[in-house]
Amino acid sequence: MLDYEKTYAESIKNPEDYWEGIAKELSWYKPWSKVLDWQYPYARWFVGGETNVVYNALDRHLETPVADKTALIWISQDMSERKFTYKQLNTEVSKFANGLKSLGVKKGDKITIYLPRIPEQFIAMLACLKIGAVHSVVYSGFSADALKNRVEDAQAKIVICSNSYPYGKKIIDSKKNVDIALAENKTVEHVIVVERIKNNTNDTNSRIKHIKWNELVTSQSTECKTEVMESSDPAFILYTSGSTGKPKGVIHGHGGYMVGIYATLKYVFDISPDDIFWSTADAGWITGHSYILYSPLINGITTFVYEGTPDFPDIEIWWRLIDKYKITKFYTAPTAIRALMKFGEEHLKKYDFSSLKILGSVGEPINPEAWLWFYKHVGREKIPLMDTWWQTETGMHMITPIPSVKLKPGSAFKPFFGVEADVVDDHGNKVPPNTQGYLIIKKPWPSMFLDVYNNPTRYKETYFEKIPGVYFAGDSAKIDEDGYYWIVGRNDDVIKVSGHRLGSAELESAFVSNPKVAEAAVIGKPHEVKGESIKAFIILKQGVTPSDELKTELVQTVRKSIGPIATPDEIDFVEKLPKTRSGKIMRRVLKAQELGLPVGDTSTLDD
Ligand code: WT7
Repeated sequence: MLDYEKTYAESIKNPEDYWEGIAKELSWYKPWSKVLDWQYPYARWFVGGETNVVYNALDRHLETPVADKTALIWISQDMSERKFTYKQLNTEVSKFANGLKSLGVKKGDKITIYLPRIPEQFIAMLACLKIGAVHSVVYSGFSADALKNRVEDAQAKIVICSNSYPYGKKIIDSKKNVDIALAENKTVEHVIVVERIKNNTNDTNSRIKHIKWNELVTSQSTECKTEVMESSDPAFILYTSGSTGKPKGVIHGHGGYMVGIYATLKYVFDISPDDIFWSTADAGWITGHSYILYSPLINGITTFVYEGTPDFPDIEIWWRLIDKYKITKFYTAPTAIRALMKFGEEHLKKYDFSSLKILGSVGEPINPEAWLWFYKHVGREKIPLMDTWWQTETGMHMITPIPSVKLKPGSAFKPFFGVEADVVDDHGNKVPPNTQGYLIIKKPWPSMFLDVYNNPTRYKETYFEKIPGVYFAGDSAKIDEDGYYWIVGRNDDVIKVSGHRLGSAELESAFVSNPKVAEAAVIGKPHEVKGESIKAFIILKQGVTPSDELKTELVQTVRKSIGPIATPDEIDFVEKLPKTRSGKIMRRVLKAQELGLPVGDTSTLDD
């Protein structure tokens, strides 16, 4: 195994050389002429190089023994299996890609994928990239309104969805959300519907042509040429929440992106050819893009997907699946660990877990108790636990251990090879050890996002203006005397609820969409299982009487506007909100008051 300190020191002597070495392990139609073009704040990697993520995820394996290896194992909620070898997956992807082409899809077209966790989700993603179309995956738990905003911002030409799907004991009618979202849409030409549940399609929106997935692919050829893409051509857009305004479309490209995700999985999870990798995320999030789908396939291993939730049919389902399918690397989120911890460890004793070699955690800070529980009762104190810090924007792991290092429970260790990070004050100066400051990245990395879709101003303002010259991550952190990073949490108005990223402003505008609400302020509050929960302070319109029924109604308003992941835990009706003289809500004052912390500087407070 690699010596971290030695390899890291070597990698940052000249990060461009380091990343060029990695890029050479992958396949390119045409090599690059320049490794990095850094025109602050835009980085373009492997300039002049031509490739395609799918060329590396599928095509290049077809001439090797990997072709007959299992690429994807999918288990449905009722435990039925669908397995695809690389060859079979390539066939399915090619057929669907040809189907898309038959509908007139061209390089650069945007396609919204609103599918639950089923193989078609992955086939659709790969098919888009294969023909140079740009996918925008929208998490299936998002509401019709949230879907509508994302389809409109991306100006999607096609929407791919399922008729309905099982979610625990419920059946979710996701096609209905699509109908609502597209009621007034001007750009979508076709809706492709996967029949996850047979004969359950309600074709209500007749203005836009609907096609069933199966009908689209039946007569298609199994051969489809993979489009040659320039290294920095966009591969996908993924919407994520920020401090202000609506969710922003983070754009990732082909060349740099694939190099970064390939290397991080390879070293952080010490990939070997017989790995069966299970990331419990959903392809609706960046973890799903990078580490369920693209990087495991680029690395030529087997990726495992379970359709259901961690508590369905019961809370032992994950443990049963690990043993049954001999999972070797298991990557999940602190919120899930904390939820499962509640059931104690007695029931875990009957599981073998001997196939497991590495554990991983992602999405929010992992508290030492959860870390130790996971390490002890699932890892049996024998295997390492990788706490990986990264973001939708970074595309790849940034602060993370590799298996050979000495771990400290609750610390995400140090920067990955070729990544230079630091923790600084308001002026960009390094803070002393064990002092909280802003987490920054000092130089570009290959999987760095290319831009914010339709909004370059937001790209510059959010990430590159607060501290000039570096990437401003939006997290606070500390570095201890051994150089280990301890991520504290967001330093902006982003809230992490069960690892899901939500913006205060976005939640407030959801509340205000209810005609009874005059003003709203939303904060995140520490929560035992979810990490953070949503608390709202609401000023009602004149004449509206506060009541518990109204609270319930407002919870519904927010769920309808964003989705169940945004369900508020607490609502307080108030007369006034703390504001600056220019009228901006001072959420930090509310938060300090709520948590009983010092309120800090209130000189700009109006009242
Ligand atoms: C934010 C990014 C990265 C994929 C999933 C989340 C928080 C993420 C960790 C970690 C502490 C973490 C940060 C970050 N976060 N991983 N290991 N330790 N915090 O991606 O939705 O873009 O959210 O998640 O606050 O900024 P995302």
